[in-house]
Amino acid sequence: MKTIKSLFGVSLVAVMFACAPEKPVDKEEKDLNKSAVEAITDPTKGIGAVKNVTLNTPLEQDRVKRGLAIYEMKCLSCHKLDETRIVGPGWKDVTKNRKPEWIMNMITNVDVMLEQDPEAQKLLELCLMRMPNQNMSIGDARDVLEFMRQNDGEK
Ligand code: HEC
Repeated sequence: MKTIKSLFGVSLVAVMFACAPEKPVDKEEKDLNKSAVEAITDPTKGIGAVKNVTLNTPLEQDRVKRGLAIYEMKCLSCHKLDETRIVGPGWKDVTKNRKPEWIMNMITNVDVMLEQDPEAQKLLELCLMRMPNQNMSIGDARDVLEFMRQNDGEK
C-alpha cells in the first residue's frame, strides 16, 4: 500500500512538472479561442440567424407540400432523396444526422457556413463544389426541413 501511494505521489509530481512550463500561455490561448467561438454560435447548430427550431409531430403537411415544391424547383438538380451523392450529398437521414438549426442555417446562410462551419467545410472537401446561395428565406428553409423530415420517414 505504501509503495503504491508513494508511486502515485511521484507520478503526480512528474505530471505537474511536465505540464507546468507550457501551461500559462497555452491555457490562456485555448480559453480565448473557445470563448470567441462560443460567442458566435453553438457549433452543432451552425452559423446564422436560426437559433432555435421547434419541430412538431405530426408533420405540418402544408409545409411538406411547399418544401417539396421548393425542392423540385431549386435543389433537385444537386440533391437526391436517397443517400446517393450527385453534386451535393443525398438527403436521406440528413435530419437524423444534423440539428434542424444547422440544416436551416446551411440553407439560408451557405456562404458563411462554408467559410466558417467545420461540418460544412468537411462536406465541401468531399463534394469539391460550393453550394450556391439559393436566396432562401427562413420560412422557405423551414418548409424544406419539414419535407426532409418526411423523406426520413417521420409522420
Ligand atoms: C448547384 C448544386 C446545389 C444546389 C442547387 C443545391 N445544393 Fe445543397 N449542397 C450542394 C453541395 C455541393 C453541398 C455540400 C457542401 C458544399 O460543397 O458546398 C450541399 C450541401 C447541402 C446541405 C448539407 C447536407 C448534409 O448532408 O449535411 C443541405 C442541407 C443542402 N445542401 C440544402 C440545399 C437546399 C435546401 C437546396 C435548394 C433550396 C440546395 N441545397 C441546392 C450543392 C447544391
